[in-house]
Amino acid sequence: MAPRPLRLTSKRAPRKLLCIVLLVIVPICVIGIFTYAQKISYFFRPLWDNPPPPFKRLPHYYAENVSMEHLCLLHGWSLRSEPRRVFDGIIFSNELDILEIRWRELHPYVTKFVILESNTTFTGIPKPLFFASNQSRFAFAEEKIIHGVFSGRTNIHGSHEDPFVLESEQRAAMNSLLLRSGISGGDLLIMSDTDEIPSPHTVKLLQWCDGIPPILHLELRNYMYSFEFPVDYSSWRAAIHVYGPWTRYRHSRQTDLIFSDAGWHCSFCFRRLQEIVFKMTAYSHADRVTKKDYLNYSRIQKLICSGDDLFDMLPEEYTFQELIKKMGPIPHSASAVHLPAYLIENADKFRFLLPGGCLRSSE
Ligand SMILES: *[C@@H]1O[C@H](CO)[C@@H](O)[C@H](O)[C@H]1NC(C)=O
Ligand SMILES: *[C@@H]1O[C@H](CO)[C@@H](O)[C@H](O)[C@H]1NC(C)=O
Ligand SMILES: *[C@@H]1O[C@H](CO)[C@@H](O)[C@H](O)[C@H]1NC(C)=O
Ligand SMILES: *[C@@H]1O[C@H](CO)[C@@H](O)[C@H](O)[C@H]1NC(C)=O
Repeated sequence: MAPRPLRLTSKRAPRKLLCIVLLVIVPICVIGIFTYAQKISYFFRPLWDNPPPPFKRLPHYYAENVSMEHLCLLHGWSLRSEPRRVFDGIIFSNELDILEIRWRELHPYVTKFVILESNTTFTGIPKPLFFASNQSRFAFAEEKIIHGVFSGRTNIHGSHEDPFVLESEQRAAMNSLLLRSGISGGDLLIMSDTDEIPSPHTVKLLQWCDGIPPILHLELRNYMYSFEFPVDYSSWRAAIHVYGPWTRYRHSRQTDLIFSDAGWHCSFCFRRLQEIVFKMTAYSHADRVTKKDYLNYSRIQKLICSGDDLFDMLPEEYTFQELIKKMGPIPHSASAVHLPAYLIENADKFRFLLPGGCLRSSE
C-alpha cells in the first residue's frame, strides 16, 4: 500500500506544475505581446510584407581625373557640347547643417536651389521657419536660392492630420515653386529630401551626357546620426529627372531604374539633441514616439554613441537573413573616405558628423 500516495502525487504534481506554469507564462506572454507588439510584428515582417519590386541597377563608373567624354561613353551615352541646367528641389524641415553641406557640395553644378519650407510640421504643429531665420548662413548661394513658404494647416482641437496628406500638399506646392524658378524642358531636376545628397560627380555626369534615362532613382549610401554609422545602400527615394511637361515633384517609386552608388543619405545627422527631438516628434514618424522616455536627452545621447535605434525598433527588412544581420547596433566605421569634400575641408566645424564625434550639443 505504500506506493499508492506516491503514485497519487506523481500523477497530480505535473498537473499542478502545469497550472502554475500556465498562470505564470500566459500573463507574461500577454504582457509581452502588448508591450512588444510592434517589435514582434517587425520581427515577422518577412512573413507579412513583400519587398517592393526589385530595381534594375545601372552600373556607375567614376574615378578622379577621368575625362567626362570617357565617362559618358562608358555608360553608353555621349558628351554634350554644354551642360544641362540643374534644379535642386527640396522640402526643408530643420536640417541646417546637412543643408549647408548639400549646397556647398552641389553649388558649382546647380542653377537654382529651390527650397520649400512650411510653417507647420507634417503633423500640423506650428514650427519656426528654420531656413528663413538662418538664411545668413547661406549667403554664399544667395543668387541661386528660390525660397517658398508653405502655409500649413494647424490642427484644431488636437485632431490628427494625416501627415502623408500634408506631405503630398507640400509636394504640389513644390511644383508651382519650380515653375516660378524658371525650370524648362531638358533641365535636370533633383527630387530628394534635404538629407539625401547626390554626389557632385553624379550630378556633373548626368548634366554633361546625352542619352541618359529621363528618370533615374539614386541609390544612396545610408547613414544614421553621422558618417560614422554606415547602414547599407537601401536608400532609393531620391531621383533625378530630365524635366518635361509631365514632370511632377514626388518622393516615391517612379521607375525601375536606379543609379548605383550615387551619393549619401544621412538620417538624424544633427548637431544638437534638440534638433533630433524636434525631428522625432514633428515628422511622419511621430507615431513611433510611443514612450515619453524616448525623448530623454541622455538616453538619445547614449543611443547615438552606441549606434542603436532611437525608436527601439527592429530593422525594416523583408528577409530573416537581412533582419538578423542588421539586428543590434550599427557597427562604427573609422572611414571618412568618399564623403562630401566640404565636410572634410571643414572637419572641425562638422566634427559631429565624423568618426569619433558622437557627442551632441545639449544646449
Ligand atoms: C589628370 O589628367 C591630366 C590630363 O589628362 C594629367 O596631365 C594629370 O597628370 C592628371 N592628374 C592626376 C592627379 O592624375
Ligand atoms: C535658426 O533659426 C531658429 C528659429 O528661428 C533659431 O532658434 C536658431 O537659433 C537659428 N540657428 C540655428 C543654428 O538653429
Ligand atoms: C502660416 O503662414 C500663413 C500665411 O503667411 C498664415 O496665414 C498662418 O497663420 C501661418 N500659420 C502658422 C501656424 O504660423
Ligand atoms: C533619462 O535617461 C537616463 C539614462 O537612460 C536615466 O538615467 C534618467 O533617469 C532618464 N531621465 C528621465 C527624466 O527619465
